Amino acid sequence: MSTHTIELTTRDGEQLRFNCDDDRNLLEAAADARIVLPSQCRQGSCGACYADVTRGDYSLGEHNPAALSAGAAERGGILLCRTFPLSDLSIALPFDHDLILRGEIRRREAAVAGIEPVGENTVRLTLLLAPDEDGASVAEFEPGQFMELEVPEQGIRRAYSLSNTGNWEGRLEFLIRLQPGGLFSTWLREQAHAGKTLTVHGPQGAFVLCENGFRPRWFVAGGTGLAPMLSMLRRMAAFQEPHPVRLYFGVNRTEELFCLAELEALKAELPQLQVTLCVWKPNQDWQGFCGTPADALAQDLSSLNIRPDIYLCGPPALIDAAEAAARAHGVPGEQVFSEKFLPA
Ligand code: FES
Repeated sequence: MSTHTIELTTRDGEQLRFNCDDDRNLLEAAADARIVLPSQCRQGSCGACYADVTRGDYSLGEHNPAALSAGAAERGGILLCRTFPLSDLSIALPFDHDLILRGEIRRREAAVAGIEPVGENTVRLTLLLAPDEDGASVAEFEPGQFMELEVPEQGIRRAYSLSNTGNWEGRLEFLIRLQPGGLFSTWLREQAHAGKTLTVHGPQGAFVLCENGFRPRWFVAGGTGLAPMLSMLRRMAAFQEPHPVRLYFGVNRTEELFCLAELEALKAELPQLQVTLCVWKPNQDWQGFCGTPADALAQDLSSLNIRPDIYLCGPPALIDAAEAAARAHGVPGEQVFSEKFLPA
């Protein structure tokens, strides 16, 4: 067995180093050195631990091509949870250093404050954090981040993006699609009620707003992929950020649309926000865009000659289609940020 030196460089230029044995994956070896890098599934299926190798040799273990395409792997893209070093490595991380945790992912207790239906098979779950050891309940997170919610008595965790913004009251809001037979969905349907407690792990994730001057920001959301977009848009509204901004929000059927009142409220607070509602298989009365949000994105990219920052959240097929549209219209890869949903 040999040990190699791994050098990480964050997007904002900070460097970190740790050692990794050749039989250990980079994500675990970093955690051993108390460098907790953004990740989610830890088994090569979500793409949350994507990075680029700029120097050195490595072997890449089995992974889902939806998490790392063959093309990206050929260009030096890796999944940290599936990469084993064969030499010293230099790695470029696609996020700033403040998203790296030192130590462990925070774990807290929270109580259910509300579960309300917001659309067909979709609920808004509101939790209130219990006070921590200093008596504070503050909810601190970056818009776009997620928490893992632990199914009580089962120790199984599911990741959900937050849809609200940081606050002093400890309020965490999530939009959750109820999946038939889904573990967390079953708990929500059958056992959850106001006051019931559960453990939350986070915040986590590197899918956050990127400060790129006043470059336009376009958000592309499929289904409950709307949650992190709402969080980011709410932050933009609270700070009255002037960037031109568009949201493409899509579902399969008209009845599945949700949070339309929230989007109207956001438009009032953020007057430059343009919202395109997209329905793939609409009913006859549908007046909005027919097709996926990736189709709507492609259409606007080709008719408007601008190269916005593009944020994508939803199922892998939507993300792939939107990334392809962005590439085809000349949007540089470093201006495209994504968070994929995993079947769970
Ligand atoms: S955490 Fe590595 S692919 Fe999901």
